Amino acid sequence: MANDLLKPYESDHLDLPNRIVMAPMTRGRADDATAVPNPLARDYYAQRAGAGLIVSEGIFPAPLGKGGPGIPGLTGDDQVEGWRGITGAVHAAGGRIFAQLWHVGRMTHPVTLGGERPVAPSPVRITGERIFTRDGLLDHVTPRALTTAEAEETIDAFAAAARNAIRAGFDGVEVHGANGYLIQQFLADGTNRRTDRFGEPTRFAIEVVEAVVAAVGAGRVGLRISPGNPENEIAESDPATTYRALVRALAPLGLAYLHVIERGAYEALADLRPLWPGTLVANFNGPEPTTREAGEQVLNAGLADLFSFGRLFIANPDLPARFATGAPLAPYAGHLVYGGGAEGYTDYPALQAAR
Ligand SMILES: Cc1cc2nc3c(=O)[nH]c(=O)nc-3n(C[C@H](O)[C@H](O)[C@H](O)COP(=O)(O)O)c2cc1C
Repeated sequence: MANDLLKPYESDHLDLPNRIVMAPMTRGRADDATAVPNPLARDYYAQRAGAGLIVSEGIFPAPLGKGGPGIPGLTGDDQVEGWRGITGAVHAAGGRIFAQLWHVGRMTHPVTLGGERPVAPSPVRITGERIFTRDGLLDHVTPRALTTAEAEETIDAFAAAARNAIRAGFDGVEVHGANGYLIQQFLADGTNRRTDRFGEPTRFAIEVVEAVVAAVGAGRVGLRISPGNPENEIAESDPATTYRALVRALAPLGLAYLHVIERGAYEALADLRPLWPGTLVANFNGPEPTTREAGEQVLNAGLADLFSFGRLFIANPDLPARFATGAPLAPYAGHLVYGGGAEGYTDYPALQAAR
């Protein structure tokens, strides 16, 4: 049982050589003006093609969804072309890659949005930590509430970006509904005070997923959620009720997978697993990188089919091979995570090269 992570996995939509998913990780290296991904990302992702599945860094589906400097987009042809080189390199290396579609909502700043005010379900400002911009850390501004029509346009933008992702050669898309960004701002009662139909906590998330499914097919769509996660000043007074309703509504669609980050008091995996008939990917988002043992325990307990690792993949491009051989894991350089070039990005050696 100890090697569950290394067993192949097959579902109606996925055919993976192992159960190790590379979690989506922002690296801030795209061209800031054009949001075209850095050409180095070809090597970065291809080096990690041994993962059962790679989920890309968050990619904005609409200009107002951009969270900070160096975040790539999927809104135009130049960006699609950039991604095509990356997906081609991953496929040539034998891997599979989904694009994570990430609209940050209020978690951005006018400096990042060409002077525009960030948008959100309701004008609820972050009071705590400041936000990273190309001008350094700045105070948050009060976001502007999306009108109903704008919320609908944002849903359409997710669908259009999903089509672009498939054009760019991605095997599918993951809708980012986690970690306090736009979709979770709708799911959480602390940030959603609307009186239109999107005031119902699950409505926006459901309509985004439905639109993306209509655009590219359910088998190419995953959804990431982080029920009860307080990150980015999210307040959910009753996550069990909200996420059970969301999962029940989405279960009949037959998505490629549901990606659940467990963090906080609510035990999302145990609660939601029985309600989700399809593939479930689990992730823990704690202060330290999640260990192989923690992932194995989740799979052994039957709480998920696949487990995603983030930080371990930064410095260990061949993570599944290291898990297979019990080889030591390299630590990553924290100051090189965001922005910059090859250093701390594509220069972590694989095992053989490291010897
Ligand atoms: C540098 C970095 C960037 C991240 N960027 C994203 C992101 O773009 N989208 C996302 O859903 N999660 C993002 N995360 C969260 C990871 O996907 C993952 O949930 C987290 O790292 C916990 O897994 P780990 O313990 O294996 O690292 C990021 C995490 C890190 C460390």
